Amino acid sequence: MTTSPPVLEVSGLCAGYGELMAITDVSLELRAGEVVALFGPNGAGKTSTLLATVGVLPRRHGAVRWNGRPAPRTLHAIARAGLAFVPERRSVISALSTRDNLLLGRSGLKAALDHFPELADHLDRPAGLLSGGQQQILMLARALAARPQALLIDELSLGLAPQVADRLLNILRRAADDQGVAVLLVEQQMRRALAAADRWYLLASGAVVSEGRCDVDGAKRLEQAYLASMGISRQRT
Ligand SMILES: Nc1ncnc2c1ncn2[C@@H]1O[C@H](COP(=O)(O)OP(=O)(O)OP(=O)(O)O)[C@@H](O)[C@H]1O
Ligand SMILES: [Mg+2]
Repeated sequence: MTTSPPVLEVSGLCAGYGELMAITDVSLELRAGEVVALFGPNGAGKTSTLLATVGVLPRRHGAVRWNGRPAPRTLHAIARAGLAFVPERRSVISALSTRDNLLLGRSGLKAALDHFPELADHLDRPAGLLSGGQQQILMLARALAARPQALLIDELSLGLAPQVADRLLNILRRAADDQGVAVLLVEQQMRRALAAADRWYLLASGAVVSEGRCDVDGAKRLEQAYLASMGISRQRT
């Protein structure tokens, strides 16, 4: 696989909410053209990892490097530097049309429609009336049209039909293969994510406890590590 230097390097990241440390030791790397899945049981710290990486959740310790330099510390600055973040709750603006939602993105309508011609039929509809899958496609269209170097996406397929989830994963795979986008993806549906991704990390109780490739051996190791991590979670609760 690729040996290019990482676009994103997270090391020893620690962040939390008030007194609570949500993540205590998260290290991961992301390279151009690869899709990496971040797995972990509920409450393991997946969302917090993404939030702390993009500067929404303040870091207590650890470092985030972007293209070999300290990453900008705010969401706005990191987005300008080329790292796109798609949060868990679909963040389309329901009352605005699909067109206006796309125009809010940094690169406008044409680039988004080039990627997702199917949105052309819905440009005048309020985004809130699109199906869950269409809203998620709209979010991806807005994010990818800005031609980010990396895309971090939380709970891609939550609540979506399996075919829609596969379509979204294919879109991400293609963005990685064709445009070299580096994708870090939180996805509950492990088998589906393993089929689309190159590598995985497993989080448990706020720390990366295992990592591997998305091949047969890697998938077996993930299954074992996941079961073991459930044990860790249970002991701590
Ligand atoms: N806004 C918040 N305020 C306080 N604690 C929070 C907040 N959000 C998350 N936490 C806590 O931080 C820890 C990590 O949560 P996080 O949401 O990052 O996990 P997750 O792996 O994304 O879980 P899920 O699979 O349920 O989405 C949990 O103990 C959670 O209860
Ligand atoms: Mg989460």
